Amino acid sequence: MELLKRKILDEGIVLSNQVLKVDSFLNHQIDPLLMQAIGKTFASLFRESAITKIITIESSGIAPAVMAGLELGVPVIFARKRKSLTLQDDLYTEKVYSFTKKEESEVSISRKLVSPVDRVLLIDDFLANGEAALAMARIVEQADATVAGIGIVIEKAFQNGALKLKEQGYRVESLARVASLENGSVEFAN
Ligand code: G4P
Repeated sequence: MELLKRKILDEGIVLSNQVLKVDSFLNHQIDPLLMQAIGKTFASLFRESAITKIITIESSGIAPAVMAGLELGVPVIFARKRKSLTLQDDLYTEKVYSFTKKEESEVSISRKLVSPVDRVLLIDDFLANGEAALAMARIVEQADATVAGIGIVIEKAFQNGALKLKEQGYRVESLARVASLENGSVEFAN
């Protein structure tokens, strides 16, 4: 997606060979017009997949997921990382290990929100090692629903997340694939 790549080149900050900071439009401040374009692109990629729900993980997945949900006309669920006052029981819960942060966390979704008839599109802001996407996929499978696809805003193609997800048979569509962050600059894969 050319608009997104342009934005990454213009505003992304390479923090290290591994980490790209995009706080000006995705992870802290949000660019609504860019998010709308991202939502339209996800919708066009998955329009034929009979999606009934979108699942993401709080917090940075929510903006692109909502825009995709608006375009596809389906509800958007965000998995919670902390138990909330109103969401305590009757949950599907999965562990997520972050290699970036070297910590394990849990994500949860109410059992009421996903059922076996659902065809779910998983959306996330970044794909690194794929652990967050795999946890969402396990939740969908716990609910006997179907993972109809995975949409990623920025894939770090030099990490193994996309490979792991594709090996498990999932369709993965990334809007920008970063091949390298070496020497302080962003190189895209095709
Ligand atoms: P994985 O799920 O693909 O294995 O990813 P990983 O554990 O490496 O990522 C943990 C968190 O760090 C996730 O956000 C992920 O989106 C984010 N992340 C990973 N690589 C980058 C990067 O290069 N740049 C930026 N900006 N973020 C990255 P999170 O902790 O769930 O945070 P948030 O969704 O609340 O923002």
